[in-house]
Amino acid sequence: MDTLAADFADRFGSDPDGIWAAPGRVNLIGEHTDYNDGFVLPIALPHLTRAAVALRPDGRIRLASLQAPDGFDGAAPTPGSVPGWSRYVAGVGWAFGEAGHRVPGLDVLIDSNVPVGAGLSSSAALECSVALALSDGLGLALSRAELAHLAQRAENDFAGVPTGLLDQTASLGCTAEHALFLDVRSGAVEQVPFDVRRNGLALLVINTLAHHDLADGQYAARRKSCEEAARRLGVPFLRDATLDDLGRLDGELLQRARHIVTENQRVLDVVDLLHQGAVAGIGPLLTASHASLRDDYEVSCAELDAAVDAALRAGALGARMTGGGFGGSAIALVPVGSVSLVEDAVADAFSKKGFRAPECFTVEAGPGAHRQHV
Ligand code: GLA
Repeated sequence: MDTLAADFADRFGSDPDGIWAAPGRVNLIGEHTDYNDGFVLPIALPHLTRAAVALRPDGRIRLASLQAPDGFDGAAPTPGSVPGWSRYVAGVGWAFGEAGHRVPGLDVLIDSNVPVGAGLSSSAALECSVALALSDGLGLALSRAELAHLAQRAENDFAGVPTGLLDQTASLGCTAEHALFLDVRSGAVEQVPFDVRRNGLALLVINTLAHHDLADGQYAARRKSCEEAARRLGVPFLRDATLDDLGRLDGELLQRARHIVTENQRVLDVVDLLHQGAVAGIGPLLTASHASLRDDYEVSCAELDAAVDAALRAGALGARMTGGGFGGSAIALVPVGSVSLVEDAVADAFSKKGFRAPECFTVEAGPGAHRQHV
């Protein structure tokens, strides 16, 4: 028996209906474009959140985790009423109910190795593992896109975090050895081959362990600036703006809009290169994305900049922050033979600047959310 199923039985007194798993993600490129109706290109991490789940008939909801001491035990939780990690799980049950799919009651035990607070979407992994479990358990057979929207609803309207659709779509929709190209406007997704190993490369994730408390307000502020810039340009979203339009903006709005317009183009260029099998060729675009996020969008931080600079100096073909920014993780595309060199260079740069030692690991594109056989 899977040890998680055994732990579930120990804790709740009966077997789970099943175990569902969902990964964290790194976004290769397309940052802060999702809420501008634009393009994103994430891969799924090999790191998984596993949820052992059983439906129960009495309306009670019990949530527990093998990693976190806190949890939840109650009924009919409402937005804002659930603290900590549990709100992402309770929020999914709530979002299903809001969409007309009543969840009778629920026991959930979580086991996750997705790094928390690292910008690698541990919250989306929680949401998506449970969303898939509920869809299967209630016999709803919802599509991955429908599940992503329900999970996003949980995050936005229950947990109160105003994020876009990137993380949930990645966790649910990615496939191994591919990056997922999502056009947020149309909802169209395409699996684009991304096999670093076959190209003699590695994708290094550098978790800076930095977290800046400013971040939450800053994310919402960036969204507002984008809406304001689109309003001034008379377009529905910055997705619809062109480089020529930018001349009609100035100051901060010009910077924010320039990032979005150029970043959408970089995503399209990376997708083209990957289709041509030119994986190493995407390096400069990753680095350009970082410069744009640092200088125009202003969502980087000293640790992320140090990681990117050190990686590039030590031979990375490209490097950038990934995710929302203000801390979290950077990625670097590195020739396989240079991985330890780059890791050492980053560690050295961090130590010289007095930053906490970062955590580095290489990843390959893994599968999206799935039911596990136990
Ligand atoms: C966070 C959000 C995503 C996306 C990224 C930036 O990860 O959850 O929706 O906006 O930031 O690309």
